[in-house]
Amino acid sequence: MQDLLVLKKLTKYFGGVAAAKDVDLNLKGGMRLGIIGPNGAGKTTIFNMITGEIKPSAGTIEFEGEPIHRLKPHHISKKGIGRTFQIVRVFDEIPVYDNVLIGALAKELRFKPTQEQHREVDEIIEMTGLQEYRELNAENLTVSAKKRVGLATVLVTKPKLLLLDELMAGLTFVEIDEILELLRKINGEMGITLVVVEHVMKAVMELCERIIVISSGEKIAEGPPQEVANNKKVIDVYLGEERK
Ligand SMILES: Nc1ncnc2c1ncn2[C@@H]1O[C@H](COP(=O)(O)OP(=O)(O)O)[C@@H](O)[C@H]1O
Ligand SMILES: [Mg+2]
Repeated sequence: MQDLLVLKKLTKYFGGVAAAKDVDLNLKGGMRLGIIGPNGAGKTTIFNMITGEIKPSAGTIEFEGEPIHRLKPHHISKKGIGRTFQIVRVFDEIPVYDNVLIGALAKELRFKPTQEQHREVDEIIEMTGLQEYRELNAENLTVSAKKRVGLATVLVTKPKLLLLDELMAGLTFVEIDEILELLRKINGEMGITLVVVEHVMKAVMELCERIIVISSGEKIAEGPPQEVANNKKVIDVYLGEERK
């Protein structure tokens, strides 16, 4: 089967500094991939290149066999790539329902929702456990619920590939478990391929089938969670602190 996403020698320079350098990746549809690495390693930069928000300095990105690295963010999103942001982006002054509806409308570039879109918003709100908040303005929500609104807003666009940037940062252990259960459903029931950037190691290890480790813009390791966790280079640059 053809890979869903292929990165070849993906590179981004900011000034003279390489935020990402020669990053290769082959990702099959249906997978759950984790990206870990120290702050400033280049993880968000890789996401920004995949979604078209920043253009690579060199290298290529293929999605379903087609190059996408010259496309605009809106076209990339139409092809089926969705993301959430490290700093949650929701409209605080409107209800949760309307936030999610805006996601559905933006995808189709429509201003008047169809019955079908209302139905899809209802379905996603229920799936993400937001029913009890649906009429509340987003500003009244906890961080965890706001993050689920961000997730719902992108899920309603029915992406094939979903990039999640530190979705679990700042959540309690109970909230992390809830998100993990939701992510398994999104992957298993909706068939959405997941790439998660996370610092919460326990969550990454539990959720992901494969992990890549980025340090100073370069991929320094790749493999199943246990193998990566025992890799000496990875322990030296990233995991060491947590094991002391
Ligand atoms: N828009 C930008 N302009 C200049 N430098 C940037 C920009 N975005 C990120 N960087 C730099 O690129 C490096 C990688 O950042 P980032 O991808 O945000 O890392 P991570 O998500 O792994 O913490 C950092 O040194 C950061 O300061
Ligand atoms: Mg980041």
